[in-house]
Amino acid sequence: MRLVLLGPPGVGKGTQASNIVKKYNIPHISTGDIFRANIKEGTKLGITAKGYMDKGLLVPDDLVVSIVNDRLAKDDCADGFLLDGYPRTVDQAEALDKELNEKGIKLDKVVYIDADKDILIERAIGRRICKQCGATYHVTNNPPKVEGVCDLDGGDLYQRDDDTVETVTTRIQVYLDQTQPLIDYYRKKGLLLDVDGTKPIEEVFSIIANSID
Ligand code: AP5
Ligand code: MG
Repeated sequence: MRLVLLGPPGVGKGTQASNIVKKYNIPHISTGDIFRANIKEGTKLGITAKGYMDKGLLVPDDLVVSIVNDRLAKDDCADGFLLDGYPRTVDQAEALDKELNEKGIKLDKVVYIDADKDILIERAIGRRICKQCGATYHVTNNPPKVEGVCDLDGGDLYQRDDDTVETVTTRIQVYLDQTQPLIDYYRKKGLLLDVDGTKPIEEVFSIIANSID
């Protein structure tokens, strides 16, 4: 299964991705997670990416495209993958088409999850993530059993630097300007699956899984 998850900041891409990759046993490739791992390790890529991410802007296409192409070349992607947050510009989508064409493979579906701006802001601001395993919670929608502590491994929960009202608002505007054109791009190719992201987490997952199966 070769999938792309498309949707605005905070809509629930990462949350659905963790369920999808478990069910279909495919690798989860999140460009945001790759950048955050590089920031944590203090790599050159991480330092460059942080400059854009903290402002809510997109990391330049050439950097993102080469990272994803390298990742797709790994053995674990041979039978499928889930791209979360990539592509995010028409140039990135064209670069992905080119890469997949060269490999003689095609995307099966582009899962497009959407919700209104006020929901996106509320979800992003309330998000908490485990420092150890990356599990995602929400202070009210999906709280851990003990406040500030991961249910899975007891790790501390933290808030992303770019999850402030101001930066989320910029990220949503950047999404509308640069990523929204991909909805038509993939709809015209007959790949788009429209999903109502306002429903509860489990319901959104059932809609996705039923359409993919
Ligand atoms: P990235 O990390 O991809 O951020 P994003 O696209 O802004 O999306 P988020 O991760 O914020 O939200 P999500 O949709 O995954 O929501 P989640 O499941 O966590 O990118 C960060 C930055 O990296 C970008 O701004 C850019 O700078 C750079 N970057 C990344 N990719 C790039 C690219 N391709 N090109 C250039 N730059 C790139 O859920 C959010 C919260 O809501 C959680 O608390 C969750 O528990 C809760 N929730 C989820 N679903 C539901 C539900 N159905 N009901 C109630 N609550 C829910
Ligand atoms: Mg995410």
